[in-house]
Amino acid sequence: MSPAITVRAPGKVNVQLSVGRVRDDGYHPLASVFHAVELVEEVTVGVGEPGSGIVIAEVSGLQAAEVPRDASNLAWRAVELVAGELGVAPDAWIRIAKGVPVAGGMAGGSADGAAALVACNELWGGSLDRPALAALALELGSDVPFSLLGGTALGLGRGERLSPLMVRGSFHWVFATASAGLSTAAVYRTFDRLVADRAVAEPAVDPAVVAALRAGDPAALGRALRNDLQEPALALRPTLADVLEAGRSAGALGALVSGSGPTCAFLAADAAAATRVAGTVAGLEQVRSTHVTSGPAPGARVVARHG
Ligand code: C5P
Repeated sequence: MSPAITVRAPGKVNVQLSVGRVRDDGYHPLASVFHAVELVEEVTVGVGEPGSGIVIAEVSGLQAAEVPRDASNLAWRAVELVAGELGVAPDAWIRIAKGVPVAGGMAGGSADGAAALVACNELWGGSLDRPALAALALELGSDVPFSLLGGTALGLGRGERLSPLMVRGSFHWVFATASAGLSTAAVYRTFDRLVADRAVAEPAVDPAVVAALRAGDPAALGRALRNDLQEPALALRPTLADVLEAGRSAGALGALVSGSGPTCAFLAADAAAATRVAGTVAGLEQVRSTHVTSGPAPGARVVARHG
């Protein structure tokens, strides 16, 4: 095998997502509390033959058939960015093993981008420091800087001005995926339409969320969960309301749409309660798959070196 590096990067749920009115550059100002979970992507990048260009050699795992294998894949674009920055030819192959739902509001594509940035930097000499990688990450997408960092963090701006938050212990989560994804841009456009005639507050972090994380108190966090993109996601996919309600009835401490959706996230008191919630929501026809996991999880990090 040619020299290659495998990097693992986590998916996420926003335990708070406070969204302000759209800015002149088309993005929305956020106060986002990102929480990385142990549903992970594993991306391997290897040195290709000179002149081979970028090849996505294999995608395996969760919903692999739906992952693009061209330049629209964030891992591909990450290879281009790092090669450009380091002045090396972008001759590389990529393998992706997926554990995060595709187009689900859990930043699976962002995790691939973050993992590929770290892998390429290692493969080609490691001269980019974390701030340089974070700048490239933001070029790939608003959620990619958090995929690099991991853990639990407050994100301001587009989500890239990150400050780690203290968390005691871990939280137990269930994620329920839908059979068709939602476009993040379409959810934000629907947000704009819904708030057109309303006052919109400046996005701000909720002290109750920060306190619940710090105390390791799942009941308090369950009560404080809030996502301003939930209303537009439900407007586009009304059947998600029944999924959220089913999880609550099955004992979830809190339920919300993950990011821009359509994946639904349920916070449970412990692993046994999470298994019960998953068993109930798995029976709904609008649910494609359920995943029991925990957070916080670490950010993008090297897990294997080959060749
Ligand atoms: O940054 P990213 O490419 O992931 O964003 C996808 C789309 O989501 C953007 O083109 C924009 O329409 C919307 N978005 C937004 N405000 C943000 C983040 C994303 O309007 N803070």
